Amino acid sequence: MDDGAPMDDEALLTFALALPLAGSDDVKTASGRLRRVERADADVIGNLYWLAYPPGIAACDLQDAIADIHATFDGKYGAFWPEGSFVVEVDRTVVGVALTVWRAPWAGTPDGPFVVELFTDPGRRRRGYAKQLLAAVATAASMVGEDMIGLRVDASNAPALNLYRSLGFHEI
Ligand SMILES: CC(C)(COP(=O)(O)OP(=O)(O)OC[C@H]1O[C@@H](n2cnc3c(N)ncnc32)[C@H](O)[C@@H]1OP(=O)(O)O)[C@@H](O)C(=O)NCCC(=O)NCCS
Repeated sequence: MDDGAPMDDEALLTFALALPLAGSDDVKTASGRLRRVERADADVIGNLYWLAYPPGIAACDLQDAIADIHATFDGKYGAFWPEGSFVVEVDRTVVGVALTVWRAPWAGTPDGPFVVELFTDPGRRRRGYAKQLLAAVATAASMVGEDMIGLRVDASNAPALNLYRSLGFHEI
């Protein structure tokens, strides 16, 4: 989870996206079924969280991963914003997740909703699911009058950096 540990804070870049998201109609065409996250999804999300990262990067084991997702719902990384948090499903299986807090608890983060976790099924990447999830977060934030959303990313995470830049996120 993006709390600065176990990742080195020095390696984290903070990004913001000005709203509304340009071209969001295009990215809604990915084939997954998008819905708001529910608390009942926490264990399933924890399992996917464990699979989504190399071992030791986000969590030390499966139980740790599941516990961290429950802690996210409980506000460990800022007040959880369920209306701005989404899963994407294929054949009733969760294949991607975006978890968002109302405001990040870390200094230097933008004044807007903040995506504290975003990940997709390793076997179903490059199918547009992460874009679809971020477009949904951006739309939800626009609908409640927010001007921007933010997130943090490790400077070595090339797939995520490409994804964010392709959507118009800029480093702050
Ligand atoms: C980063 C991540 C969420 C992207 O998920 P995804 O569903 O594969 O992303 P999308 O299919 O929506 O990709 C959209 C765009 O992002 C960029 N992108 C995604 N994966 C990429 C990769 N491996 N290499 C280069 N660019 C990539 C591309 O621009 C891509 O568009 P294209 O496929 O048309 O070229 C996924 O790789 C992941 O879960 N990684 C592990 C967890 C993680 O690092 N999360 C981010 C934490 S900040």
